[in-house]
Amino acid sequence: MRTERLLFAPWTEADWLALKPIATDPEVMRYISGGQPWPDDRIQEFVRRQIDGLRLHGYCMWQLLEASGGSMIGFCGLQPLAGTGDVEIGWWLARSHWGRGLATEAAHSLAGWLQARRSRPHRSHRPAAEPGVDTGDGKAGHAVRKANKTQGL
Ligand SMILES: CC(C)(COP(=O)(O)OP(=O)(O)OC[C@H]1O[C@@H](n2cnc3c(N)ncnc32)[C@H](O)[C@@H]1OP(=O)(O)O)[C@@H](O)C(=O)NCCC(=O)NCCS
Repeated sequence: MRTERLLFAPWTEADWLALKPIATDPEVMRYISGGQPWPDDRIQEFVRRQIDGLRLHGYCMWQLLEASGGSMIGFCGLQPLAGTGDVEIGWWLARSHWGRGLATEAAHSLAGWLQARRSRPHRSHRPAAEPGVDTGDGKAGHAVRKANKTQGL
């Protein structure tokens, strides 16, 4: 998936190092952990969860790479909400990239991706790979509605 300025990419375990400067920036972490930087093991665990999530559900918090140069500048995507059955959309961007509409651009792209899955005529070839994605009125629909509401789409 790509937008004018962004590429959505899957993770490899080594990518935790690219996330580290973002996950240890107190401003980025302000509403995540009260400004506390994540320790290395937590960042590594997050990345592993995205790798597993993509395999299990067909979605994750994808890395966001700059379409121009390929640098990793954050992530955007979906994750199951523990205990609720809902799926939430999330974003973190490196502070140097805030305020340029990139989160909005990523959310638009994600909403389009979900829409495309919903309108796909044949879903039976991938049911086991995406048990958590109800692209009708359920979980993924909830994420789209939430994204639309949050991002004013
Ligand atoms: C949230 C975040 C991804 C927004 O990135 P961004 O690229 O600067 O966002 P955009 O430029 O697309 O702006 C989207 C809208 O959110 C608003 N916005 C962005 N950051 C905001 C903030 N900290 N407080 C209030 N509104 C904010 C923008 O004004 C814009 O609204 P508008 O379209 O009405 O002008 C970025 O601030 C971030 O990484 N924050 C730290 C991590 C975090 O808290 N993530 C959210 C929870 S998962």
